[in-house]
Amino acid sequence: GGWIARTLRSEGFEGRIVLIGEEPHLPYERPPLSKDALLGEVEVDSTYFWPPESYEELNIETMLGVRATAIDPGGKQVSLDNGETSNYDRLAITTGARARLLPIDGAELEGVHYLRTMDDTLAIRGAVEKGSTALIVGGGWIGLEVAATLKKLGCHSVVVEFADRLCGRAVTPDISDWMLKFHQSHGIDVRLGTGVERFEGDGKIERAVLSDGDTIDCSLAVVGIGVIPNSELAETAGLNVENGIVVDELCRTSDPDVFSAGDVTSHPNDLLGKRVRLESWENAQNQGIAAGKSMLDKGEPYAEIPWFWSDQHDANIQMIGLPENWDEVVTRGDPAEGSFLTMYLSGGRIIGAISVNNARDIRFAKRLMAAKKVVSPDDLANPDIKMQALLKG
Ligand code: APR
Repeated sequence: GGWIARTLRSEGFEGRIVLIGEEPHLPYERPPLSKDALLGEVEVDSTYFWPPESYEELNIETMLGVRATAIDPGGKQVSLDNGETSNYDRLAITTGARARLLPIDGAELEGVHYLRTMDDTLAIRGAVEKGSTALIVGGGWIGLEVAATLKKLGCHSVVVEFADRLCGRAVTPDISDWMLKFHQSHGIDVRLGTGVERFEGDGKIERAVLSDGDTIDCSLAVVGIGVIPNSELAETAGLNVENGIVVDELCRTSDPDVFSAGDVTSHPNDLLGKRVRLESWENAQNQGIAAGKSMLDKGEPYAEIPWFWSDQHDANIQMIGLPENWDEVVTRGDPAEGSFLTMYLSGGRIIGAISVNNARDIRFAKRLMAAKKVVSPDDLANPDIKMQALLKG
């Protein structure tokens, strides 16, 4: 939403811009929430996209702590939970996603947290007790980042993951294996193939009973079991919704005056040849910019190679593409040494890659992928051949 508002102005729109946000904060970056902000090394105002005074300078009105409850597309009106309504000529729905809730007994106890917003992070930060056990439910990106950060804060982190491997939605089994060993070597207790039956405690969480019968005494639980797109508002307007708000390559919904961008959209990606819903920082920013231009009828088709990153312990992990149906896997560097790049190829072309502590090479892998360059697996694996050299010729 912030990027759309800003883009409308930078593209010369002189009319009224109103940014309605349920959260009490100005637009802020979410990546630090599970890392530096949870560690306490970053405060709320340094996560802001732009300084507070820039909204006034750009004449962008903000309505914070206000939730939009319904849209009337005929009357071009949005109802708000403060009893007011707001009119529009053009509307953007950028409602993102919310944490999926864990439907078990005891989930309402004090000390059981989710992590999606700045306020969630501040609440977890306030609940951390050094030397105690923190239970993390879900071994995906959020769970693993939180486990690493809480370890740094002096907690004993136990990760409980339903599936038989970590990060199953995002990475291949080989990478899941690497992640398991990596987290174990950093002192994280990982329980695969395990769920939580219930939390117990007297008003406050004291223990978790696991599906294998084990009981973990803990003073804090953080649940990271995926997100659900906030598409209900779009449904009130009768818009097409299917795994998110359905938009076209110009970020247009099924109503010509309503646009959407970010985690909440299901959008076509020409480079991948399929429709995707991306939970990524880069998509939230760049699709927002694209939607802002489209709202002014200056849009260009939006399609980028998806890019994701995560920081866990001393590892910077990056991924490009959403690879499926590869016929070859090439690894450059040695996973045992904690720095490598694994690439997935189809017909001699890179269709996706993941790097650990090798941000430089994955950048070139992305360029090779974008150029649809046919590359020799031996050359890709050979550390004596620079990746950028493969772009030439
Ligand atoms: N018990 C244990 N594990 C579960 C349960 C459960 N009841 N339900 C789901 N899981 C596991 C899944 O198997 C998966 O490994 O939780 C994990 C959730 O991982 P993700 O889908 O990656 O979701 P999450 O880690 O919550 O991240 C949500 O927020 O910041 C973004 O990039 C991040 O896109 C990601 C999103």
